[in-house]
Amino acid sequence: MILLVGATGDLGGRAAKRLRASGQEVRCLVRRQTDDSPLRAIGAEVVRGDLTEPATLPPPCEGADTVIATATAISRRFAGTSSATIRDVDEVGMGHLVDAAEAAGVQRFVYLSFPIGSASLRTPLEQAKLTIERRLANSPMRTVVVRSDGLQEVQLSPAARFDLAAGKAAVIGKGDNRRRLVATGDIAALLAAVALEPDPPAQIDVGGPEPLTKKEIIGIAGELAHHPLKVQRMPRPVARMATLMLKRRNDAMASALGVGLASDIEEATWDDKPLRQRGINPKSVTEFLKEQSQALAGH
Ligand SMILES: NC(=O)c1ccc[n+]([C@@H]2O[C@H](COP(=O)([O-])OP(=O)(O)OC[C@H]3O[C@@H](n4cnc5c(N)ncnc54)[C@H](OP(=O)(O)O)[C@@H]3O)[C@@H](O)[C@H]2O)c1
Repeated sequence: MILLVGATGDLGGRAAKRLRASGQEVRCLVRRQTDDSPLRAIGAEVVRGDLTEPATLPPPCEGADTVIATATAISRRFAGTSSATIRDVDEVGMGHLVDAAEAAGVQRFVYLSFPIGSASLRTPLEQAKLTIERRLANSPMRTVVVRSDGLQEVQLSPAARFDLAAGKAAVIGKGDNRRRLVATGDIAALLAAVALEPDPPAQIDVGGPEPLTKKEIIGIAGELAHHPLKVQRMPRPVARMATLMLKRRNDAMASALGVGLASDIEEATWDDKPLRQRGINPKSVTEFLKEQSQALAGH
């Protein structure tokens, strides 16, 4: 049985659906106030709990062979539906989940992270990911850390100031570093695969099929829209200063800015091989943008 922590999220929900569609028994840890009906509708078991309440974590781990952990507070902090900080949830709470999984005899722990290099300003989210990666490296469980490049659905959305409908986009830094934004569905498929395959690697760095700079992405979006996007720029020193200043006052904003800045500096040394090797045919950024433009045009 597979325990999913974060299954009411976009990525976590897609992983739950995939696993259920392939006949797996799935249990989901869901916060008390959160609607669990989509998960019940696919036949998943739901256990109420919260990463910030350590006493709620052992029961869902009982009898689980594998845990897949995608939960994060960042989007809920932006939406105002989590008063718990990124440190409370992503670092301390996730640490308690690792403890509970170990104590319950869980065999495999699949954890979603992202690549963090030397340009990192150690924002709360980066700090949490590094702490949990280190914690898992010392665990007796079989651990699989999936470090995913940015998700297309998140990084190319109005929330990340990439607004196709309004015809505008923001660029943090120079915008000329190639990254490999990847489809959320492809990462969900990867998580489902590594939860089940007999001998998964301890670490998987992965991105989408198309290495593109932010400027190139904005160019493609402009061509598809038949008019150039209006670009708002934030120079690197300004982004750096804002990230450092916001670290204490606004953990979600500091973390998002920090990720944006690091993505402008650190080149992708990873690719889409981990997806293709598992029979996942990854969606390119161009395909994603075409779908978005068609949806906007009402097709
Ligand atoms: N965005 C990117 O570009 C990117 C890149 C690489 C990796 N990632 C990683 O991808 C994952 C995001 O997955 P997603 O799209 O499914 O996220 P999401 O849509 O923001 O969902 C967050 C999930 O975490 C749960 N959660 C929040 N606080 C919790 C708590 N205190 N206790 C238990 N659960 C809690 C939420 O539950 P509720 O529904 O109850 O709030 C929800 O299920 C994260 O691990 C993120 O770091 C993202």
